[in-house]
Amino acid sequence: MFQIKKRDGLARIGELELPHGKVQTPTLMPVINPNMDFISPSEMERIGAQMFITNSYIIMSTPSLRERAKEEGVHSIVGTERPIMTDSGAFQGHMYGKVRTENLEVVSFQKEIGVDIATILDIFSEPHFTYEEAKHSVEETYRRGKEAVEAHPDMNLAGPVQGSIYEDLREESARLMSSLDFAIHPIGGVVPLMENYRYVDLARVIISSKKGLNPSRPVHLFGAGHPMVFPMAALLGCDLFDSSSYAKYAYAGRIMFPRGTEKPAKLHPSPSPSPPRPTPTPADPRKMPDEERHRLLALHNLYVSFSEIRRVREAIRKGTLWEMVEQRARARPELLDALRTITEYNEYLERFEPRTRRSTFLYSGWEGLKRPGIERAARDAERLALESPRRFLPEAEHPYSRTYSEEMRSKERLGISSPFGPVPIELDSTYPFGQSIFPEMLDKDVGERMKEYEGGDGERVSDRDIETVRTIARFQFGDKGAKLLLDGKITVVKSKKTGKIRNVMVDGEHVLSLRAEDGLFTLKLAGGERLHRSEFPAYRVVVSDGDEFIRDGKNVFARFVADMDPKLKPADECIVVNRNDELLGVGQVILNREEALAFNRGVAVKVREGKKD
Ligand code: GUN
Repeated sequence: MFQIKKRDGLARIGELELPHGKVQTPTLMPVINPNMDFISPSEMERIGAQMFITNSYIIMSTPSLRERAKEEGVHSIVGTERPIMTDSGAFQGHMYGKVRTENLEVVSFQKEIGVDIATILDIFSEPHFTYEEAKHSVEETYRRGKEAVEAHPDMNLAGPVQGSIYEDLREESARLMSSLDFAIHPIGGVVPLMENYRYVDLARVIISSKKGLNPSRPVHLFGAGHPMVFPMAALLGCDLFDSSSYAKYAYAGRIMFPRGTEKPAKLHPSPSPSPPRPTPTPADPRKMPDEERHRLLALHNLYVSFSEIRRVREAIRKGTLWEMVEQRARARPELLDALRTITEYNEYLERFEPRTRRSTFLYSGWEGLKRPGIERAARDAERLALESPRRFLPEAEHPYSRTYSEEMRSKERLGISSPFGPVPIELDSTYPFGQSIFPEMLDKDVGERMKEYEGGDGERVSDRDIETVRTIARFQFGDKGAKLLLDGKITVVKSKKTGKIRNVMVDGEHVLSLRAEDGLFTLKLAGGERLHRSEFPAYRVVVSDGDEFIRDGKNVFARFVADMDPKLKPADECIVVNRNDELLGVGQVILNREEALAFNRGVAVKVREGKKD
């Protein structure tokens, strides 16, 4: 049902296939209130809606709607042929304390009216719940989930994760719900957190839920409809958002922006020049009749929300979502706190972080240096930089090798005291060190830390090119991998035009090529054969079937992955083997181990070269 098309850390562009069509994620499902229809679904579709959510409990408890829905189906009531998800009434339980329905009753009703995704009647876990109360909401939600999945094995059901703000309960709830055959997993009970700008708690809840969830299931952040939270929630792995906020804020005379919420008075004469307007000339919304104003403001809110969703997708595609989140976090101190909190979870997040991105690292504050992938790269570079005596030069214009061409002519081992920390000069063109832009005036502690390493004397190196090859290989494949790859007589082939290293030959075999864009190696088949001498499962993706496809150079689909080196991260180079550990090819990893084992759709490894029999 769900497959990843592009990814950036935990964030993903996915495709969700439902009975009423395909949906591209991340996306926002506008809430349709069947009792109020001041903006039509087709208008919303023009703004970007691909899927809607409505409330089956409201339909069920409104006699006229109930009968119509049973006769004509929910699509006729809502007025769209696009996919529709329905909620169950759990939120009404949160608002009014009680609901007059039961789990199986409301699930059967959703089935009867032909929804694309139905939601079980979960227990809304309030942030103020005691641990015991939260635990009960987790257990009861699981019990109802099991009951619904068993009664309707053929339905697409949503299994919410509950557990209040207790991280162990969230993870446990996610694990329990994932063990059942749900189509998607909403993260529930978070509306009060968002209403009160408790973004630190929100981030903790999302991460702890993600830890327990099956990574192949789409994740829905229940009730999230303010564009302020989209970038960060997507960064942490949320695929779907829903909200009636666009309408609620419009009724309250408020307009939404990615930076927050404002009153239109401040923006006289028109809330925004861009959204589609029902009036031909800009007018002061405060002077409009109520109905017209609600419509105008709601259209504005939808337009801004979908624009932000599109920007999030674009950022995932370009690999710039961290930057977007860092910039957006400046809009609200609580968001900045949440961003700073995320760094506590780097050990988990790192498993999904690619070693390289196509985009330049742009510094907008010290939090950028704490991104899980950046922190890892800086740590690895520091280890290599400090293990033998080096002379550290001050940070300078890139590429360092040009700025310091004079110093490079000596045979001294050199390093840069960079804002990332100490970096060997051999990583001059390697991501992120070579593809980064910092302001002249750095945050004080970053600037001070840099000075620590300046000066000293370096050892002599015998051949700079070989030193460069060895350092990049160790940075990328670890010491063991580099040793296997480079065991023998190393020669380099350089580009005639740029003078940069292109290919690495070892004992006459073409083992590695250096990518100009990110200064990292791609693995050639001869390199794969060398890595294959490592101990199982290092560097390996094991396929269960289809040897001949891989040998032919075709990609590895997730459903054929039987095992994988848990150390492999997205964008890493890997070798592909069969169950007998015979080498079939080399390629680049798209999914990490837990993802590859969970997904049964989509590509897990892009194969670069197959090994003919
Ligand atoms: N809408 C907003 N939050 C929730 C939740 O926790 N459960 C359900 N079913 N709907 C919601």
